[in-house]
Amino acid sequence: MPISTKKYYVCKNCGFSSAKWQGQCPSCKQWNSFLLTEFKEPRKAAQEIINIKKNPLSEIEINSIPRIKTKIQEFDRVLGGGIVPGSVTIIGGDPGIGKSTLMLQVAFSTIKDSLQKVLYASGEESLEQIKLRAERLGINSSSINLLNTTKIEEMEYLTSKEKPDLLIVDSIQTATSDDFPSQAGSILQVRGCASRLIQIAKKEKIAVFIIGHITKGGEVAGPKALEHMVDTVLYFSGDKNQVFRVLRITKNRFGPTSEIGIFEMKNSGLRQVKNVSRMFLKENGENIGVAHSVITEGTRSFLVEIQALTNSTFFPYPKRTALGIDLNRLQLLSAVICKHLKINLSNKDIYLNIAGGLKTEDRAIDLAISLAIVSSAKDRKIIPKTVILGELGLSQEVKPVSQLDNRIKEAEQMGFVFCICPQTIKTGKIQIKKATSLEQAVKIAFK
Ligand code: TYD
Ligand code: MG
Repeated sequence: MPISTKKYYVCKNCGFSSAKWQGQCPSCKQWNSFLLTEFKEPRKAAQEIINIKKNPLSEIEINSIPRIKTKIQEFDRVLGGGIVPGSVTIIGGDPGIGKSTLMLQVAFSTIKDSLQKVLYASGEESLEQIKLRAERLGINSSSINLLNTTKIEEMEYLTSKEKPDLLIVDSIQTATSDDFPSQAGSILQVRGCASRLIQIAKKEKIAVFIIGHITKGGEVAGPKALEHMVDTVLYFSGDKNQVFRVLRITKNRFGPTSEIGIFEMKNSGLRQVKNVSRMFLKENGENIGVAHSVITEGTRSFLVEIQALTNSTFFPYPKRTALGIDLNRLQLLSAVICKHLKINLSNKDIYLNIAGGLKTEDRAIDLAISLAIVSSAKDRKIIPKTVILGELGLSQEVKPVSQLDNRIKEAEQMGFVFCICPQTIKTGKIQIKKATSLEQAVKIAFK
């Protein structure tokens, strides 16, 4: 077999390769990062390649292995019905949000009998630290094996020897392989180690979870360095000062990406939240500047409380602050209010907050946001026990929302009696007050 030997330079930071040495990497702009590398490329002539055959689609058989169910329904639902054996999932999130806690709880919950095994490889924490966390969570099992290493080779060796059902790697930023010349956490290492872990998963049919801290830009381990390689991408987020945490899925090769899981961080670990509405609804919610709406995430609908405060501004330009929604959306809705309701907001600061620290992109709360701002600007309360649904257009038209019956059912369960929305549907106890424009909605809400 003819072998051609090439010498070239590789940037140890980002993996960029070049035939010539360069002082600064043109890709990642790192100085003095080029290493001389020898590359042996076996070149196979076409006629030398044997044992390659095409596979007609109709003849492919699926040897389906059942999904691994955890006892954490929120987690299973987000994944689309449990963990797929042989799949690789990356779980990203800010440091300290609870990724290691979640994974340890997931590991424990997959173990139903002593036949199932989990390997938890941690390069972040010592064995004692993990044991302390496990004690706090009330977890103890001989089926969970810990490995305190950063080396991918050690993980490879133990997984092929022990054949666990689940491998958890905490975290990809600390993982290293001798094959790559750069330091832990560099894109070259992160990408190289992830592809080795993917090989382990596919070869041994082991479900692999890779924990990754997110970068300042909000992406897992570098600019999209890993997300295209793995099967599933999960994000664990929340406000560290609040107890609730949201598990979102942004890529899923085996199911939908619309579901979210909601957890509460307690002293003894994460607990699933079954009644989400109760969590986000505050007591004494009927105040000036407060409106209620229902958001939908996946198959779930829950109530949110929207709080707005308008205040005379001290600045040449009025200030707009939005917590939980996009700032551009707040600006757009304020412009619609100014134009169509003739309320002067140009000398007013507007602060908007979704109670509980929740973030949402659901446009069905547009009308509720607008009415909360109007309530604060006019110093008047919205009629008690009213839920407001509708997307707002630039010419103040209120557009219908999806899954209206689910949303109304949820509002009904939480004791709401009126609903302002642009559609009419048959409901139980809740009374629908139809509004097709912002002006109409204001007339109904502040009667
Ligand atoms: P951790 O899982 O270590 O976060 P990550 O792996 O994402 O960096 O969780 C860290 C935080 O969670 C820490 O601030 C303490 C808190 N915590 C609890 O409130 N209760 C618990 O039972 C545990 C284990 C942690
Ligand atoms: Mg951790």
